[in-house]
Amino acid sequence: MAYVRKDAGTLTATEKRRFVRALLEVKRRGEYDEFVRMHLAYYSSDGERGLRTAHMAPSFLPWHRRFLLDLETALRRVDSAVTLPYWDWTRDRTATVAPWTEDLLGGNGRRSDQQVMTGPFAYGQGNWTIAVGVTDGGFLTRDLGRRRDPIELPTTSDLERALKDPVYDVAPWDSTVTRGFRNRLEGWSTGRGSASWRNHNRVHRWVGGAMLGAASVNDPAFWLHHAFVDLQWYRWQRRHGGARYLPAKPPGRGDEQHRRIVARHEKLPPWDVTPDELEDIGRIYRYA
Ligand code: CU
Ligand code: CU
Repeated sequence: MAYVRKDAGTLTATEKRRFVRALLEVKRRGEYDEFVRMHLAYYSSDGERGLRTAHMAPSFLPWHRRFLLDLETALRRVDSAVTLPYWDWTRDRTATVAPWTEDLLGGNGRRSDQQVMTGPFAYGQGNWTIAVGVTDGGFLTRDLGRRRDPIELPTTSDLERALKDPVYDVAPWDSTVTRGFRNRLEGWSTGRGSASWRNHNRVHRWVGGAMLGAASVNDPAFWLHHAFVDLQWYRWQRRHGGARYLPAKPPGRGDEQHRRIVARHEKLPPWDVTPDELEDIGRIYRYA
């Protein structure tokens, strides 16, 4: 039976408590920091040679889908009733509502050093010391809404601009493409200033602090954000009659992207799985 991922804004007190408890246990076991390391290891960009899998590439969506499944599996080993909640940032748009409450992710960082002081992941609680990918402090940081230079979360119509595109991705399959669902959702753009961060990328900017860089997994908000991104892929498939992942075939030898992206039936490192095998997850989980 498929399990259900719920909207973070609808979780009961018990569901929140069990989700938090499972996350803290995965952290205590040392498994959580392995996820942070893995995301760091796969944070390559357009300019680099070699295969890009997690970002700035078609496999942005299947890579994170599998990454989320791995974390969710670790959580469910601790408590089999737990599933990843998602944060609908088109609806929950301020720093005082879900998921930023004391009983879920805790709130904003303080002004002086952006340190998160409330909730289960506050450094002072002693259960969430950041060990990987930070230079100072070991404490979780956030700057919700970017107080010095405020930005807004993406809106429903921003998201709609991605969802309405009937093509999954287009050549040259990187951060420069202006068409295709994948990059319209991932959110690289040539616009100026804050307009250059769209949908997925813009949410990382809005949260700020730990969520800004390659070690963004250090903030548990990463998972709730990416679960909502994953839900958009499902919605997009439904809207466009089961439209498929692209490219279907690997770019040929003369192509600049030859061996630099993952085609539909190629293995998606570091796993032994293809984008094709990750397109339909209906037997594993569904979204409420
Ligand atoms: Cu990522
Ligand atoms: Cu992300």
